[in-house]
Amino acid sequence: MCGIFAYLNFNVSRERSYILQLLFNGLRRLEYRGYDSAGISIDFSHEASTVPLVFRQEGNIETLVKSVYKEVGATNLNLEESFSTHAGIAHTRWATHGEPAPRNSHPQTSDLKNEFLVVHNGVITNYEVLKETLVRHGFTFESETDTEVIPKLAKFIFDNANEEGDKSMTFSQVVLEVMRHLEGAYALVFKSRHYPNELIACKRGSPLLLGVKELTEQTNNGTSFNDVKYLSSNGQPKEFFFSSDASALVEHTKKVLVVEDGEVVHLKDGGASIFKFNHIKGKRGGTFTRLPSIERALSVLEMEVEQINKGKYEHYMQKEIHEQPESLTTSMRGRLLRGGSCKVKSVLLGGLKDHLKTIRRSRRIVFIGCGTSYNAALASRPILEELTGIPVTMEIASDLLDRQGPIYREDTAIFVSQSGETADTLLALEYALENGALCVGITNTVGSAIARNTHCGVHVNAGCEIGVASTKAYTSQIVVMVMLALAIGGDTLSSQARREAIIDGLFELPSKVKEVLKLDEEMRDLARLLIAEQSLLVFGRGYNHATALEGALKVKEVSLMHSEGMLAGEMKHGPLALVDETLPIVVIAPRDTCFSKQQSVIQQLHARKGRLIVMCTKGDAASVCVGGSCRVIEVPQVEDCLQPVINIVPLQLLAYHLTVLRGYNVDQPRNLAKSVTTQ
Ligand code: UD1
Ligand code: BG6
Repeated sequence: MCGIFAYLNFNVSRERSYILQLLFNGLRRLEYRGYDSAGISIDFSHEASTVPLVFRQEGNIETLVKSVYKEVGATNLNLEESFSTHAGIAHTRWATHGEPAPRNSHPQTSDLKNEFLVVHNGVITNYEVLKETLVRHGFTFESETDTEVIPKLAKFIFDNANEEGDKSMTFSQVVLEVMRHLEGAYALVFKSRHYPNELIACKRGSPLLLGVKELTEQTNNGTSFNDVKYLSSNGQPKEFFFSSDASALVEHTKKVLVVEDGEVVHLKDGGASIFKFNHIKGKRGGTFTRLPSIERALSVLEMEVEQINKGKYEHYMQKEIHEQPESLTTSMRGRLLRGGSCKVKSVLLGGLKDHLKTIRRSRRIVFIGCGTSYNAALASRPILEELTGIPVTMEIASDLLDRQGPIYREDTAIFVSQSGETADTLLALEYALENGALCVGITNTVGSAIARNTHCGVHVNAGCEIGVASTKAYTSQIVVMVMLALAIGGDTLSSQARREAIIDGLFELPSKVKEVLKLDEEMRDLARLLIAEQSLLVFGRGYNHATALEGALKVKEVSLMHSEGMLAGEMKHGPLALVDETLPIVVIAPRDTCFSKQQSVIQQLHARKGRLIVMCTKGDAASVCVGGSCRVIEVPQVEDCLQPVINIVPLQLLAYHLTVLRGYNVDQPRNLAKSVTTQ
């Protein structure tokens, strides 16, 4: 979805070409989120005043880069001109209101002179009313976006104040006034020719970070620093960055301020002033107070620059598939306890320990998520039911909202989300909070809206995931939820052996994943075989119902081949009609309690001359293919509840290779976004 990046250098000389490159690189870091147009604004000095220039293009960042340099050449704009202070803004847009086109891209502007410019993530829900009012006051609109009302409203407020003789209105006063009129979810960055070298950011709902880099403190290793000094106007040379995504900041600085809902951050004269919007309940509008810098502490990003680079891999998806042994290890680090004097094997989830009693008393556990996160919850459901004895129900976030399904005070609602920002999951969280349920988050993004708004939770710690198709986050989510089941489930004598076997299995899991990754070549061969197919079915059951859904989702989202994951128990109730000699069908049949049922499924498919690819436990190839010929994918066996982590890997590899062979974009599949922040 949309991405924001902004850069302000203070008291440090930067050439225009440097500023442009920095903004473009910021946009490249946001690319993975999904977008269809992009734009930037930088300054141009004209007759002793600063004029913001706007460049916007439909298509990818490189198209924008080319068009900017072309225009720069045509207008003789000096790339070597230096600015000791300069404010630049940039944006990637994922079309919601209006087609992808330069006029609908951001920055959106107040007028031809670019008096006020805005980049926006989110949706302004009352934009039509605001637009009508502004049109009545003589404003004309060039885009179909909801965003355009924002810079125009800023100009309207600024002009009115000036007409009334108030020439002292500050940039933050203008923005605070704008914010009072906006409804919906947003993260915004403003730039204005009336307030050169200043930037203002504010947010409600959508994520936004401020990154700060003090240039004189090169010796500071980042372990301790003085937040007040970083945010105050002390004349020190500094660089400030705003971004909707930590991955665009980490190469510049790890010192960030997570902007909270209702906050306005004003960058001016090398300092950052923070204002807080105090909403008046039940009414639009509210009041603002200025927060002393000391009240807002900077945090240190736990991300490493290597995480956002492809390293030796060609694509992020490929890298993220192959780094699963490490990401799983990180997800479990410090949380599994084995041995010691008492030799007890147990799980410690720091974020949940104070809430376990309440969760154990719940009448029901409800898993809520979308896409891959929903599938990960589905894979974990059986072990949660087995170890806790609490009924577990599954909810796709949008469906729960559509139905306004019942959620009770006695429920524990578990929100599973890689990004922690998915709009449907977030709205379902609000709904569950209103209904009084205990809300638990399973998120991969520290500081995300879901992590902040849940009562408690567990961070997945899989590391930054850039490929739109979720891979390592999926396997880490399952592992975290298995640990969650162990933590909630009582440590009874009868379950002790089972619990210990699972904990041993978790310890061994990264090495088993390493083993299954050796199927890479084999999966490429299979992809070659399937390259021209129209469709692929995947049958699974029990723990691997989720593997079937997730495997099919991977194939469909990146390789653009139609693919459906199905519950094998439902095969005779419809899907069997599709079976013939041509349609490829993957049957997942590991040695677990469903094995004999899957053997019977395979025989029934053979009887209809089905074209089978069977995934089975190592050594089972001969026994699973009784009754016909089939291609076999042999995988290492692990504890049944962990088998989905192993079984998804060959299907991730298959989806990856199919996509590369079919010539599609692996990391940014057509029409998809990494995190879907609109409904
Ligand atoms: C925490 C620290 C980790 C440190 C460890 C040492 C963080 C983010 N994690 O990890 O760096 O090494 O202690 O003891 O500082 N939470 C939610 N909702 C969510 C996710 C998490 O409310 O969706 C809450 C948790 O309830 C907890 C906090 O966020 O209060 C941190 O959660 P988590 O990182 O999982 O905790 P630890 O693993 O203990
Ligand atoms: C999008 C992503 O559809 O949102 C998927 O492309 C993801 O990969 C889904 O599974 C849910 O996102 P999240 O961040 O809530 O897990």
